[in-house]
Amino acid sequence: MKKMTTSSIKKTKGVRPLVMITAYDALFASLLEPSSDMILVGDSLNMSFAGKSDTLSATMEQMLYHTNAVCMGAKNSFVICDMPFGTYISKDVALQNAMRVFQETPADCVKIEGGADKADIIKHLCSNGIAVCGHIGLLPQSVRSEGGYKVKGKTEKEALQLIEDAKAVEEAGAFCMVIEGVKADVACEVAKCVDIPVIGIGAGVEVDGQVLVFSDMLGFFESFTPKFVKKYLDGAGLVKDAMKTYSDEVQKKEFPQEIHTY
Ligand code: KIV
Repeated sequence: MKKMTTSSIKKTKGVRPLVMITAYDALFASLLEPSSDMILVGDSLNMSFAGKSDTLSATMEQMLYHTNAVCMGAKNSFVICDMPFGTYISKDVALQNAMRVFQETPADCVKIEGGADKADIIKHLCSNGIAVCGHIGLLPQSVRSEGGYKVKGKTEKEALQLIEDAKAVEEAGAFCMVIEGVKADVACEVAKCVDIPVIGIGAGVEVDGQVLVFSDMLGFFESFTPKFVKKYLDGAGLVKDAMKTYSDEVQKKEFPQEIHTY
């Protein structure tokens, strides 16, 4: 598949749904690349990869390390590096950190959580040559301030705010945005009110594409499965079964056999 660009991504709007998936390392990135349009190195790696209970302690160093690994494994993919909590608290801080992403990795863009309140930061990055993917709706980096992961778009006020956010993110120069944890009918309206792709996670089918966390989608993450996740593989079960068989064979001296021996 030909590597996507910000302009080819924009051109998919109204033509076909985009496929985005997270990855945190070269091995999985190479396996996921053939059937995806974009790979997101999400700060969700702090949970899926580092075992933490939320994304808030993810660091720039972690993001740079994992983004480089993903880019090595998926050289033909459009790669998005998530900006961690606290790394875009002002225009200057955001630009300094986003510049690190572009200077120290081959990533194609950064992702920033927030809507109208982050428009000036998105604009500043875009005007300095950094491509930005927005992220509106449920914002995982606000989990502690909001006291949990709250679905958005349940009231008229929230729906209007989401529309304002999407328009502000587009106007600031983002080439696409993620919309997370939003009532499907509202997400559909949001997608209609902007000309850039709106990629959903827990936001129904009537948006411009879908993104899932790979370890949820492949059934590796066992502790919690959100309603919006479909498990396309029983990854955890398969790994545990294979490991048990290996362990049994080692203990019974059935492995290695003649064919595995020099
Ligand atoms: O960090 C992440 O994986 C994300 C997705 C949930 C969109 O931001």
